[in-house]
Amino acid sequence: MRIINDVASMRNIVCKAKMEGRTIGLVPTMGYLHEGHLSLIRKAVADNDIAITSIFVNPIQFGPDEDFEYYPRDMAHDSRLAEQAGCDIIFAPTVKEMYPGAFKTYVEVCDITDRLCGAFRPGHFRGVTTVVSKLFNIINPDRAYFGQKDAQQLVIIKKMVKDLNFPVDIVPMPIVREPDGLAMSSRNKYLTPEERKAALVLFRALFEVKDMIEGGQRDKDIIINNVKDTIASEPLAKIEYVEIVNADTLDNIEGEMKGKVMLALAVRIGKTRLIDNIVLEA
Ligand code: PAJ
Repeated sequence: MRIINDVASMRNIVCKAKMEGRTIGLVPTMGYLHEGHLSLIRKAVADNDIAITSIFVNPIQFGPDEDFEYYPRDMAHDSRLAEQAGCDIIFAPTVKEMYPGAFKTYVEVCDITDRLCGAFRPGHFRGVTTVVSKLFNIINPDRAYFGQKDAQQLVIIKKMVKDLNFPVDIVPMPIVREPDGLAMSSRNKYLTPEERKAALVLFRALFEVKDMIEGGQRDKDIIINNVKDTIASEPLAKIEYVEIVNADTLDNIEGEMKGKVMLALAVRIGKTRLIDNIVLEA
């Protein structure tokens, strides 16, 4: 496995691979890899001739009071795990390499970026779509892999690719959870042992919803209130949002729930912001 740190070398490698007719799969990440990331990498390895994992903690998707500085970074750990998963190349540029000098161009998806997490993290998705566009332009992948864990990000990236005609297939991948149900996340590292236990309330709340919908409940407000009550029963948890939306469009659901719906939530456990979701057929 090779580790490439600069854009010019990365471009040369993919240019040569493309001329040889080889397919490229890209897994964009911010590193501190866990099984969730590795499931994407393994799929990229299985589907493509060359699997590239990008590792870049993207400063422009963090707000001024967010955790850019503290975000966990461990390149030795990441390169060991990526290599074991079969990754061929890690692309790990520096901030200066990605944003040299005065950077003035952004890619912004409108409307669907204002809801859910977007309402609490202004500018976040603009930072995501900008860096993902740059990665697509540098690497020119045939396929790119994104987790359903960040469900809104996935919908936004799909929309951007469609609207701007990026020649890449977006491959969605299911949420990977710890054995006790907590969705894997690099940010789980911030949780104290007590908070780690409290964080299970997210999973509990989501799976209560599954039971309710499977039991025939279709009243959105009853379901949302149930989730809010469950989460409120955990003293360390503070709800940011709990919403039920159309899973494909993120549109609000008016009246009775029908079709593919997603319950998405963001909850703070102590200082750590966690997100999770479940997609259900109503
Ligand atoms: P990051 O949080 O590192 O996640 C990288 C990819 O791994 C995303 O597509 C995310 O949805 C997926 N992922 C994370 N946890 C997962 C889990 N438990 N199960 C399945 N997939 C999981 O998302 C980002 O980085 C950034 O915003 C990025 C797209 C790289 C742009 O900077």
